[in-house]
Amino acid sequence: PRRRIVFSGIQPTGTPHLGNFLGALQNWVKLQQDASADDTLLFSIVGWHSLTLPQDPKQLSIARRDLLAALLAIGLDPKRSIIFHQDENPYHTQLSWVFSCITPVGKLRRMTTWKSRLATSRNANDESEVDESMLNTGLFTYPVLQAADILLYKATHVPVGEDQKQHIELARDIGDIFNRQFRNTFPLPEYIATTTRRVLSLKDPTSKMSKSSPDMSSRILLTDTEKEIRKKIRGAVTDSTAGITYDPVNRLGAANLLTILAACTEEDVLEVAKRYETKGHGDLKNDVADAVVALLEKPRTEFERLRGEQDYLAQVALEGAEKATAYSARTMQEVRKAIGL
Ligand code: ADP
Ligand code: NA
Repeated sequence: PRRRIVFSGIQPTGTPHLGNFLGALQNWVKLQQDASADDTLLFSIVGWHSLTLPQDPKQLSIARRDLLAALLAIGLDPKRSIIFHQDENPYHTQLSWVFSCITPVGKLRRMTTWKSRLATSRNANDESEVDESMLNTGLFTYPVLQAADILLYKATHVPVGEDQKQHIELARDIGDIFNRQFRNTFPLPEYIATTTRRVLSLKDPTSKMSKSSPDMSSRILLTDTEKEIRKKIRGAVTDSTAGITYDPVNRLGAANLLTILAACTEEDVLEVAKRYETKGHGDLKNDVADAVVALLEKPRTEFERLRGEQDYLAQVALEGAEKATAYSARTMQEVRKAIGL
């Protein structure tokens, strides 16, 4: 089998939540466990991406450090994976510029993520309420930067949540345009659908659980205490129909709770739903809370411990940045040569 180069990223826009964990981060740890000695795994904290929405500089700086601690806390190992800050490798923004000069605006207009991100961050009820005059250039073009993140390492596999799938297709498009316009340089990366789970907001189950939402009760953080977890799940929006069914079109709230429970217990969601047919939302919420508390207990304890080890975290960041930069220098040289700079 072909040697795998796996790349994925997460924004330092706040503490990772249950959606990040079940939709992406848990898979990163599994990939690391299953990786062969020839595989290269790169996991990046993508600081440049976080600027696409307004950030408080002080909070960003703390979130950025905390996120590294969180990635280690869930089980990523700097001896087996290259764990680094995207903004500490200068080649990401360089390659992004090259790509932005070969990417048609029409392709970006078709991406739906900037619309939903803008809607979420502005607390709008739906995407049609979003005013394009509020859209900055970075939020519009961030899929180009993401293509650069991936192709810089000639990644072959990209494990991300379902919401990011269209961006991987765009990265393939951009790689292909470059290969044809200049020189065959980039292998086209594959999206790994390790899970198609999409965890929804506890308060507005028509949108995904996201770090960008100003409503803190809409998401469960990796660092929430047992008490906080129980309170948020008790407050989750559900309908008033008696009995529980898995109906991800008409009963979003209940479907979301069932999805979360099934993910925690690693069962099929329909099997789980069957057990609650004759029960109420209160019973379901209690069991979801128990399962989430159990799932997050170890990562949370480990996160608190690592937070007290700032020297160690700084060392991990430094070594990660050195490895990532060295790994990608060659690609950037090839690109410059191909384009004539
Ligand atoms: P957020 O939107 O919360 O800021 P990021 O953009 O940093 O999250 O995404 C980090 C990873 O988590 C990505 O792979 C993304 O697909 C995944 N992810 C984010 N939100 C969810 C969700 N609600 N359900 C499942 N996966 C998610
Ligand atoms: Na986000």
